[in-house]
Formats: sequence, C-alpha cells, structure tokens
Amino acid sequence: MYHASLHRQVNALVQQANLDIAGADNLFYTRFIANAPVIHALFQELYSQHPQAKAAFDQLLHLLLRAYLERPPILRQTDEAKAKSDFWFLSNDITGMSLYVDRFCGKLETLSGKLDYFQNLGVNLLHLMPLFESPAGESDGGYAVSDFRKVDGRFGKLADLRALRQKMGETGMYLMIDIVLNHTSNRHAWAEKARKGDKYYQDYYYFFEDREVPDQFDRAMPDIFPESAPGNFTYVPECQRWAMTVFHQYQWDLNYTNPRVLAEMLDTIFFYANIGVDILRIDAPAFIWKQAGTTCQNLPQAHRILRLIKQCVAVSAPGMALLGEAIVAPEEIMKYFGTGPYEARECDFAYNATQMALQWDALATGDTRVMLHEQPGIARKPFGTSWITYTRCHDDIGLGYSDSAIRQAGFNPYAHRKFLKDYYSGQEQNSPARGALFSVNPKTQDARISGSLAALCGLEKALEAKDDAAVDLAIRKILLMQAHSFFLGGIPMLFYGDELGYTNDYSYLDDPGKSYDNRWMHRPVFDWRKNRKSGTPGTVEARVFSATRRLIQIRRQLPVVADQNNTAWLYPHNIHVAGFLRSGDGRQLFCLFNYSGTAAYLTWYAIRALGPSSDRLFDHWSGLYHTLGADHEFLILAPYAFCLLEPQ
Ligand code: GLC
Repeated sequence: MYHASLHRQVNALVQQANLDIAGADNLFYTRFIANAPVIHALFQELYSQHPQAKAAFDQLLHLLLRAYLERPPILRQTDEAKAKSDFWFLSNDITGMSLYVDRFCGKLETLSGKLDYFQNLGVNLLHLMPLFESPAGESDGGYAVSDFRKVDGRFGKLADLRALRQKMGETGMYLMIDIVLNHTSNRHAWAEKARKGDKYYQDYYYFFEDREVPDQFDRAMPDIFPESAPGNFTYVPECQRWAMTVFHQYQWDLNYTNPRVLAEMLDTIFFYANIGVDILRIDAPAFIWKQAGTTCQNLPQAHRILRLIKQCVAVSAPGMALLGEAIVAPEEIMKYFGTGPYEARECDFAYNATQMALQWDALATGDTRVMLHEQPGIARKPFGTSWITYTRCHDDIGLGYSDSAIRQAGFNPYAHRKFLKDYYSGQEQNSPARGALFSVNPKTQDARISGSLAALCGLEKALEAKDDAAVDLAIRKILLMQAHSFFLGGIPMLFYGDELGYTNDYSYLDDPGKSYDNRWMHRPVFDWRKNRKSGTPGTVEARVFSATRRLIQIRRQLPVVADQNNTAWLYPHNIHVAGFLRSGDGRQLFCLFNYSGTAAYLTWYAIRALGPSSDRLFDHWSGLYHTLGADHEFLILAPYAFCLLEPQ
C-alpha cells in the first residue's frame, strides 16, 4: 500500500545524507522506497501500542540508511551481482561446512592459511560457529554472547575475521555466521547493568519481582535442557528479580516487546552483514517472542520480527541471505519460509531437520516408510527458498517428525522412538551405533541423540573391535547418509570431521565448562596428523574423504541438483529403498538409496513410472551403465548402497 508521508520521510532522510538517488545510490533508494511501507506495517503490528513506537520507527529508518552508508563498496557490488544471478543461493555449486575455529585449527589467522583444505574437498561455504565474545565456562559453545561486536580472544581479533573474509572472497568462498537473537550471556553489558538495577536495561530482558508471572509461563513452557537447565527462569540475587532463561541459566532471554531491543539487534545484524556475511544463521528464531499461557515457541510475532528483519536486510544488505534455525515440528519449520503474502519473504533458508532425523530413523530401522510419509509436507517449501541439508551438526538429533507419519508407516510412535533412542545410545545390544541420549525429560522420557556421524554409523565400535567388515559397513552407511542429503535439494552442510570419519571425542568430560553437555562428544578437536592420513590410500580417513570429495564434485557437475523445487519422490515398491527424481532443463537424475543391510531389489517400474527420458542409465557414483529392464525385472542395490542414475 502506498504511504505518502512515509515516502516523504524516506526522501528527507536520503536528501540529508546527500545520496545520489538518480545515480550511484539509485538501487538502494528504490529498495528503500519499495520496502518502507511493508516495514512500517510490520513494525506497527508489533509495536503500535508501545509508547515509544514513533521514535523507535524513525530510529529504524535511520539505521537502514546508516547500514547502507557503511556497506563497503565491494559488498555493494556483490549485492548487485547476486541480484542479477537470480537466487544465487539455489545453485548446485555451493557446499558448506560448519566448524569451530578453535577446535578445527586454533585461531582465525590459522584458518586463513587452511583455505586450501576446503578447496581440495570442494567446500566453498564456511559456517564458523560463534566467534563473538562469550564467557569461558558458561558459553554454550559461543551461543551465550557477552559482546556482539568483539571477537573472542580465543579466536583472535575482529581484524582477523575481516582478513579471513577478504581471503575467502578472493577465492570465491562464502561466509556464514550466527546472530544469537534470542538471548545474551548474563555477562553482557546490558545484563550487567540490569543486574545492578538499571530499569532501562532490565527492560531489555524479561525480569519479574516474584514468581507469579514466571509460574504462569512455566506451566505452558517445555524445558529445553531438562537435565542441565530445568525451568525457564533464574533468580538474580543482586537485584532480587527472576530473569527468563529458556536455555541455560546464564543465557538471559531478550525482550522483543521492547522496540529498542529489536533496534539493537538489527544494528548488530548489519554490523555482521557489512563484514561480508553471505548467509546469516538466525539462532533459535522460534523462541524470540514470549506470551504467558503458550509454549512461547513459533508465535506469530516471532514470524513478524523475522519478516521485518528480512525486509530491512533486503533494503540495506540485499546480498545476505537469512537462515532460520528453527528445529521444530515439520509443519512449523515450513512457516519460517513465510506464509500468505509473506511467502518466500521471511527466511531464505531453513534446516531440513525433518529429513535429517528421518534418515537416522531409516538407517536404524532399515525401513523408509516414515520418511516417505513426511515428504508431501516437506515438498511444500516455496520456490525461491531453500534448505540446508545435513546429516549431523553441532547439535543433537531430535526425533521431532510427526507421530502421524510413524503411525501411517504402521508403528507405534512411543515404541518406535524408544527403539531409535536405544539403538543410537547403544542400549540396544545388537546396535553398532555408539552415541548417547541428550536432554532426557524424566516426565515424558523424551530425549534427543548425541554422537558423531561416524560413531552413530558404527565406525567407532568397528574400529575398536578391529573388524574390517564392520568398518566397511560403517563407511557405506556414512556415505549413504551423506549422499542422500547432498542430492536432495538445498545447500549440503558438512560438519567438520565427518569428511574424515571422526568418531566421538570424549575429552569434553575433563572440562567442567562442557562436561554437563554431551553434545561436545561430536564436536571434535582436530588432530592434523590424523587428517593427513586422508592422503594415504586405504585408510579410513582417505576412504571417507575421497568419497565425500567425489560426491561434492558430482553434485557440482549436475545443474539439475540446484534447488529449483524439482524433487519428486519415487514410490519404490520396496520399503528399504528411498528415492527421488531431480529434473529440469531436459535432464533427469534418479537418486536411490538402500537403507537395508541386505541387497534390495527394486522393480524397474519404480523408475519407469516417472518417465525416464532414455532406457540407458548412467550411474554417476559407480561409473556403470544400466539398461532399464521390464517391470518384472529388478535393479539390485547392495547393502547400504546408493546410485545416481542419469538417463543418457
Ligand atoms: C541453537 C544452537 C544450540 C544452542 C541454542 C541456544 O539451537 O544451535 O547449540 O544451544 O541455540 O543458543
């Protein structure tokens, strides 16, 4: 809707700043004018009742202008180049890796010298786990930030991050970092002032004088870390108040009903954008709005804030994509792409957490039916948005897919999840997996799973038992899991160490700042002597590394793998096999994955039903050709094997 006074306000702002709106600054000006009404509307929906609403909105417009003015020319150029390439981030050319700089190689400066490692593997997007200052011992892996602008001394300095970014840019690499939007560390300057009784900063958080309101909240809110941090409030003795702490006691939830908090965090977002971030991972967005009597997750206002952030970024740093880290129920994840008029105008990316967990489900059961039943929901992703696809990340694996999919597959949800938890935590005697249960809720027996990709696939036990056949099997499983997530659609995000078959790292148990959180078992400290074995053929490291590299190469050669919402699942007539067709521009790729420990027979009809363009099929993985057989004949997939068939 056109808004004349807003138009005048934007004009006055850009005039004061002497922008060349007919020339160099024209694109920015156009974006500003075009997006201002929707930014205003979203802001009003959130804050019209707030006494400082008008001033806060004016401040927001200033902030957008300043962010643009401070945007380095090189980034303005990449903004334009990305805009021209039309959805740059849907490309099959991008493969990512998440890593902790200190555990990977020490400092940011050292990382600058290791970029060839990623180039060799084929990784061109780095997700650097939180780098900003965070108190040692109470940091939640950096997700308890005490200074959003200061790189933690453990990693080096802000200048090192900038230097790394520049070097990455020279070789065409992309950067992803986090904005921890939901909370700060209780040692952040705002928190320190709040603790001392400063009302202005107490209003940045949820502070309560007594337990009345906290109790109301607690009745409807689940516990996120029921073992290590039960409850959602923490008493702050210095000011005799209760602070809302949904995650750990040392992570104080920010109060977004206060528009100043939004402005501060938007300012931080642009600070990161102007360092040269290509994808901003918005940590825990599901939690950013609270309302007593609700679970305080996925509330409509949380979506409004994300939409507002998206429209603001589209004005001043349009080349930066947003990833919403919403690890919630499948139908809720989809909403982070935006709904209704905001479809594809909220987060550009979400994690395909549903699919990730379903692959672990299929690997344990050897049965792909639950996975298949969830696909219609996953396929509702709007065009122009994409997934981060992955098998492991720094967090636990939650079995958060729907009970109805489990039931449709013929299982009892409670018994089914119990089996999976027992299987991966090693409580099931015959399981080759070695992981652990994370955050067991004693009331519901709900739990998530920790453990590295390799350990959960059986490599740790197999190596210990010096059982070569079991090692082979574990490697097949690792590659099956990776291949599946690489070809599904979206940016594959490796977790460092998985490219080398790292098993669990138990050294966290000796560190009191980590021992309470078993997610550290799958966050390895790299041993570069071990890594060098990837150059020695026949070693586990070389087998996993070279196969992972090959998967990345194959992916890069096949534009049909780019995420054009072009994935159609097969009905494979065999419960052990999952498969889908990727198609576009006259090319097709049939991807088939056998989740069973025995050979799987797949009727050729499964492929024929989706209209292959030729009877001659080339398997990009094995390098072999197949001829499409009759319906009563079969394609045979070895245990835990997969194939990537392109009609020729
Ligand atoms: C996100 C992070 C997780 C962290 C939590 C709280 O879910 O991925 O590691 O514990 O947010 O910040």
